[in-house]
Amino acid sequence: MKVLVVGGGGREHAICWKLKQSSKVSELFCAPGNGGIAAVAKCCDVKATDIEGMIALAREIKPDMVVVAPDDPLVMGMVDAMEQAGFRAFGPNKAAAVIEGSKSFSKELMKKYSIPTAKYEVFASSKDAIDYVEKHGAPIVVKADGLALGKGVVVAETVQQAKDAVISIMEDKKFGESGSSVVIEECLTGPEVSVLAFTDGKTMCPMVSAQDHKRVYDNDKGPNTGGMGTFSPSRVYTDEIAKLCYDTIFKPTMEAMVKEGRTFKGVLYFGLMITDDGPKVIEYNCRFGDPETQVVLPKLKTDLYDIFDAVINERLSEVDIQWDDCGCVCVVMASEGYPVKYEKGYEITGIDDAEKAGYTVFHAGTKLEGSKPVTSGGRVIGVTAKSDNLDSAIKEAYRAVDMINFKGAHYRKDIGIK
Ligand code: AMP
Ligand code: GLY
Repeated sequence: MKVLVVGGGGREHAICWKLKQSSKVSELFCAPGNGGIAAVAKCCDVKATDIEGMIALAREIKPDMVVVAPDDPLVMGMVDAMEQAGFRAFGPNKAAAVIEGSKSFSKELMKKYSIPTAKYEVFASSKDAIDYVEKHGAPIVVKADGLALGKGVVVAETVQQAKDAVISIMEDKKFGESGSSVVIEECLTGPEVSVLAFTDGKTMCPMVSAQDHKRVYDNDKGPNTGGMGTFSPSRVYTDEIAKLCYDTIFKPTMEAMVKEGRTFKGVLYFGLMITDDGPKVIEYNCRFGDPETQVVLPKLKTDLYDIFDAVINERLSEVDIQWDDCGCVCVVMASEGYPVKYEKGYEITGIDDAEKAGYTVFHAGTKLEGSKPVTSGGRVIGVTAKSDNLDSAIKEAYRAVDMINFKGAHYRKDIGIK
C-alpha cells in the first residue's frame, strides 16, 4: 500500500517510522517531512496547511491512505477535502476536529454531557471577562478560544496577570482571531496525564499513558513550549484511574460526539488532571500529541497501518491492540533561545552513533544539507530510549543525548522525574 503522511515534525517522524515497520506499507510519502523523515519516507515539498496543494500531490502519488497528523489541517477540513477528492483519509473531519479547534465548543460539550472538567465561562467582550476575573479572584485560568500553538493558556496567579492575559488575547490579538473570545476557568491542581486513544466512533482504544513537560527549564520553570520531553507510562495513572477515565471521560466523549452528529474518527487526545475530586479534562486534541507520540508508538506492538485502516472502516473492535510493558522516555533537544528567539542552520553530530547504539532519534526541526542534518527549528530532535522500566529508560535517554551535539543545544535534565 502507498501511504501519504501530512506534517513535518517529531510526531510525524514517529508515525512514519512506525508505518515503515508495517509489511503492508510498500511506499511511504510525507509532506513536507523533515531531515529525519527523509530516511524512511519520500519527502514532498507541500505545506501541511496547503489543502489544495496536498490534494494535487495526492492526485500525483495516488496513495491508498492519507494520514493527516497536525491540528491545523484537521481543523481546516483536510480530511473532508481528501475524501471529496476520492482518497481514504485517517483523521477526524472538520465537524469533529472542532473538539480541539474551539475551546468553547469542547467546554459546552463537557457541560452538556456531564464530563468532568473545570468550571468555566466564555466571554466575547474583554470588559465582561475582566469584570468576571475581578469578581472571582486568582488563581484563575485564561484561554484563547481557538488554536494558539499550545501557547494560548495563561494560568494566572494574580488578578493582574489574568487581566493582562485577557487584554493581550482579546485586544492586542496575540493569537489573531483565535482570541476573539476567551474561556475563563477555575484553576485545578493535581498531576497531569496525557492519554491518546484510537476511535472509530463505536470503539475507543486508549493507548498507554504519557506525560509531557511543557516548560522550557528544569523544575517547570520558564515559558511554555510545544513540549520539552515526555515519558510513558505516567507514574500516577493506575489501572483504577484508567477505568474511571474510560467510564466517565473517554467513552462518554465518543458517544457525545456521535449524538452531536460529529462522529470522531482518528486519534482523540485527552489532557487530564488527576484532582482530589477525580480525573478531569484539561483539554482535548483532535490528533496524536507531540512529543507524546514519540514515547507511545515505540511501545505499540500492533501494525499501525492495520489500526488506521480499521478506524477508517469503522471496524476497530476487530483489532487486538497490543503494547509493550516497558518504560519509554523522549528528551527534546532544542535550539538556544527557544521558545522565544533562536538561530537555525547548525550542524548536528552524533545522531548516527546514537542510532547505532540502539536509540531512536525523532527529528522535529532539522533539514539535510547534502547528507548532513542541520537545525531548522526550535525543537530540533527528540532523543528516545526504551528500557524495562522508567528509571532505566531515563538513564538510557540521557546517555543518548550525551552522544549528540549542535551549537547552543538546550535540553531539560529532569525529563521523567516529576
Ligand atoms: P492546554 O493548552 O489547555 O492544555 O493548557 C496548557 C496547560 O495549562 C495545561 O497543560 C495545564 O498545565 C494548564 N492548565 C490548563 N487549564 C488549567 C486549569 N483549569 N487549571 C490548572 N491548570 C490548567
Ligand atoms: N504535547 C501537547 C500537544 O501535542 O498538544
